[in-house]
Amino acid sequence: MAFGEQIQIKTRREIELMREAARNVAEILLELRGLVVAGVSTAELDQHAARAIEERGVESSFKGYDPGGLPSYPAVLCVSVNDEIVHGIPGSRVLKEGDIVGLDFGVSVEGYHGDSAVTVPVGEIRPEVQKLLDVTRDSLDRGVGAVQAGNRLSDIGHAVQERVEKEEFSVVRTFAGHGIGSKLHEPPWIPNYGAPSRGPRLLPGMVLAIEPMVNAGGPGVRMLDDEWTAVTEDGSLSAHFEHTVLVTEGDPEVLTRIPGSH
Ligand code: MF3
Ligand code: CO
Repeated sequence: MAFGEQIQIKTRREIELMREAARNVAEILLELRGLVVAGVSTAELDQHAARAIEERGVESSFKGYDPGGLPSYPAVLCVSVNDEIVHGIPGSRVLKEGDIVGLDFGVSVEGYHGDSAVTVPVGEIRPEVQKLLDVTRDSLDRGVGAVQAGNRLSDIGHAVQERVEKEEFSVVRTFAGHGIGSKLHEPPWIPNYGAPSRGPRLLPGMVLAIEPMVNAGGPGVRMLDDEWTAVTEDGSLSAHFEHTVLVTEGDPEVLTRIPGSH
């Protein structure tokens, strides 16, 4: 994925299916948020998500996902706790008071995907940790705000980075947002940093997954032996928020946003 590759313009039907997928993602994520309490294991969250997928007759976008050269992803949900940045694999880990928990989730409807992530606290968290969540969430909003027809792709990452670096936080460079459609990951690659006014112009009908990952410390990333879980190099906390966004003639349509969601 790179700046040069063609970004698809979705048809009306494709957009309809993506709206549907994204709505399911948002509704299930909202349910999952309610289950994030001390004593729950990350595997239990994944099991709840798998049941919800089953009940609704949609498909997981993540389970079996094969990025090439890695083991395929084994769960329907990514659960990334504390210093885990993204792609944490659910398992026997039990959540405890004061943790922060990234939930990243995607489903498809008739082959078209929606993708969203949110980071939530377990019980009470310290004010500086709440600030990391608030700033990351706000940086996603700034990125979404740059999704205007006629803007250029790099305006998104520029807006994210500008917000994050007002604080003593750093934007992760190793991972990025992405186009989304009949594949979970399509061109373009959407970094969460960079100079403005670069890359292709945004056009109505493009659908973009914007997903800032923000570390409380430095931007460095280390991979765990499971080959999926990315953690901060310095052990600092990390937060992640994501939305699937449609470019329109006017304001962006956040397909994974419903009342009560992030
Ligand atoms: N939102 C994440 C991403 O776009 C979800 C990927 S999980 C995977 O990277 F299993 F599908 F890789
Ligand atoms: Co994504």
